[in-house]
Amino acid sequence: MSASEGNMGGLVRRFSAGWKTRHLVTLLIAAAGTYLFLLSRAEWSEMHRWNRAIGDMSLVMVAFSMAIGPLSRLLPRTRAIIPWRREFGIYGVFLAIIHTAIILVGWVQWDLMRLFGYEMHPEGMYVMLQHGFGLANAIGIAALLYGIVLALASSNWSQRLLGGTVWKYLQQSAYVLWMLIVVHTAYFLYLHFQDFHRNTPEPNWAQIPFAVLVLVVIALQLGASYKTWKLKRNRAAPDQFETPLEA
Ligand code: HEM
Repeated sequence: MSASEGNMGGLVRRFSAGWKTRHLVTLLIAAAGTYLFLLSRAEWSEMHRWNRAIGDMSLVMVAFSMAIGPLSRLLPRTRAIIPWRREFGIYGVFLAIIHTAIILVGWVQWDLMRLFGYEMHPEGMYVMLQHGFGLANAIGIAALLYGIVLALASSNWSQRLLGGTVWKYLQQSAYVLWMLIVVHTAYFLYLHFQDFHRNTPEPNWAQIPFAVLVLVVIALQLGASYKTWKLKRNRAAPDQFETPLEA
């Protein structure tokens, strides 16, 4: 083994760490990030401040988890961080559960009809008032359920239980979760607070960072897919020139 391979091996071990360290570090990142998001919007009401800070940090953690795979394919030296995508995914979903609980208790007060955009009319019946709110929440719920399934399937035990093929299929379809989260968040960042008959609040500062984050994840995924395609094509290429005698 060369000295550089030895150094690389040491680096890989240092970054991949044991699962307990990874859980602890990811939990600390989740708490610190949420705290910073909270600080950034001190003027908002408590309910909006907390549920948005936790929702934002959940999105960031799922984005990290989504980015690690393609990043390590593009830059093989970063392979050491691959094990971290599990913990980032798990704590991203954990934060999403808290985000949802705050909405249920603090916003719609357990009235599930309100969650889907209905409000109680003075005449005593529910009327549809906020179509977009209802649809965005339905998408959020689909994302949350899907995220919980993926998080529960993110252990060596579930990997053994499900078998390699089913487990891999489940984990590879994580981009569906990512797309649901992107649509859900985009609605609340760009559309929900716009209104033609009410003063709209100041735009959320997260609008541009969110767009950049989504573009970075897409660019990494496209880049990694292109690299995989090119490698496979180059490997397959010699066969195309084989003559019947060589075959
Ligand atoms: C994986 C699941 C979820 C993620 C990652 C997520 C993430 C987010 C993010 C990033 C925001 C925007 C925060 C901001 O404007 O700065 C948001 C807003 C919101 N989400 Fe979710 N969400 C999820 C699930 C849900 C579910 C299940 C519900 C409903 C039960 C929900 C209801 C809301 C509401 C009502 C808002 C607007 C918050 C406000 O204006 O204070 N979300 N979510």
